[in-house]
Amino acid sequence: MATQMFEGTQHAAVYLKYRFAPGKELKDIILAYLQEKAPSCTQLAVDVGCGSGQGTAFLADRFAKVVGTDISQAQIQEAKAAPSPPNISYLITRCYSSPPICRVCPAEELPFEDGSVDLLASFTAAHWFDIGKFMNEVKRVLRPGGCVAISTYTIDMSLHYRDCSEKLTQIFREAWDQLLKYSHSRIKHVLEDYKEIFEALPFPDKKRITNIYDKIPMTVAGVVGYLESASPYQVFMKNDPEAAKTLLPGMEKRLLETMGAPSRDTPLEFWVRHVCILGHKEA
Ligand SMILES: C[S@@+](CC[C@H](N)C(=O)[O-])C[C@H]1O[C@@H](n2cnc3c(N)ncnc32)[C@H](O)[C@@H]1O
Repeated sequence: MATQMFEGTQHAAVYLKYRFAPGKELKDIILAYLQEKAPSCTQLAVDVGCGSGQGTAFLADRFAKVVGTDISQAQIQEAKAAPSPPNISYLITRCYSSPPICRVCPAEELPFEDGSVDLLASFTAAHWFDIGKFMNEVKRVLRPGGCVAISTYTIDMSLHYRDCSEKLTQIFREAWDQLLKYSHSRIKHVLEDYKEIFEALPFPDKKRITNIYDKIPMTVAGVVGYLESASPYQVFMKNDPEAAKTLLPGMEKRLLETMGAPSRDTPLEFWVRHVCILGHKEA
């Protein structure tokens, strides 16, 4: 069954503000794979679980048309409101019934014709999907010779600033560990580097890369905002709002003291590891 964790409008706004796009290393690996396996498949890319469009944007340079889909209407609204190239669109489908329900696009029921998609991508979202149903859709909508790219960043991030990177990372991880107590059971897919998701991909021509590192430029405010945008923080806020409200300001204070920095806008680097599953449907 689909899991809906990113529904709130406030959460979607925080998400748009603080979630970062895929870094250079991840983008280069995906683009090189496309060039190798499907150089002439350049018509349609679909980004499933697109959120507010973090991973959708870079596909616009390679494909004539890029469509972002998501199960959360709030996320799609944020994506639509943000500036983006003219060949990107974000899809809201409506199912009219009685009483009328507005339904966005679940990954398990994609609104694309059989064999019509050149690239099906999904960034940091597939662990929320019903994997079996999603893979049936991957197989159905991809055109013969088309590719799939499914990635996530993992939870072992680190912070880098001058000579205090180790201490900053420790402070960050203490807060992260607090939050992870509230994480959904589906986080197991991330902890297992998407092993089960890789195994479920129904193409023999596939690979899983688990050591893609990107250095994301950030600020202290960005690190705090990133944690605020994480789904376990939203659960923490519901379960124990008092404790949740003090966790991030406490972390921010410790980070700034350790850095000897006066402002939460002080830049630092956020290093992330990505896992990426790449696959090619037989032509
Ligand atoms: C962690 S966010 C990732 C967003 C974006 N792709 C990124 O790279 O930051 C996960 C997204 O998956 C969406 N999602 C969760 N379950 C879904 C499903 N079954 N079908 C489609 N989207 C889903 C959520 O609404 C959310 O926007």
